[in-house]
Amino acid sequence: MRIIRRENIALIGFMGVGKTTCGQYLARRLGYDYLDTDQEIVKRAGQSIANIFKTQGEAAFRAMERELVYNTIPRLRHTIISTGGGLGANAEYVSVLKQYALVVHLHLPAEDIYERVKDNRSRPLLQTEDPLGRIRELLEQRLPVYHTAHVELTTQNRSLSQIVFQILLNYHHHAPRRRKK
Ligand code: S3P
Repeated sequence: MRIIRRENIALIGFMGVGKTTCGQYLARRLGYDYLDTDQEIVKRAGQSIANIFKTQGEAAFRAMERELVYNTIPRLRHTIISTGGGLGANAEYVSVLKQYALVVHLHLPAEDIYERVKDNRSRPLLQTEDPLGRIRELLEQRLPVYHTAHVELTTQNRSLSQIVFQILLNYHHHAPRRRKK
């Protein structure tokens, strides 16, 4: 019998839904390590995300995400992983994440996302004339992949502790998971 242990939790979803805040809180609650893919890329590149996009282009940033998915995430144990909004929109990456973590999609309606991100200049994809339109367009493209998560939870009108409680309920229910060969 092969035992598949899901000893990590990965949070995916659009920019601004609360992946980083929830991830940090969850890690503290469980006494787990914490890995934020954006922060890890910034650390390794020695540059902000806005600068990576500006000087090396989006493709270079996506290659750094790929490196994390294939070379870093498979080695993690007892870690909460918060992902950048584009990472969890890549079907191939989500299927890798699902092998190593309980994957939770956090979501919000486009208007709520807009309210949360509108004054923040750190997200290059939203520096356009019509950020709300861009959010709607990207959400439409990305939702089919976000929906493949093991668990989906809204963060609308929920306190941090309510969201974390729901994630923990699911985690204790799903892991460790045993499967016959
Ligand atoms: C991106 C989301 C950002 C960051 C980059 C690209 C995206 O992360 O990875 O700006 O493609 O949605 P957050 O979801 O943490 O804002």
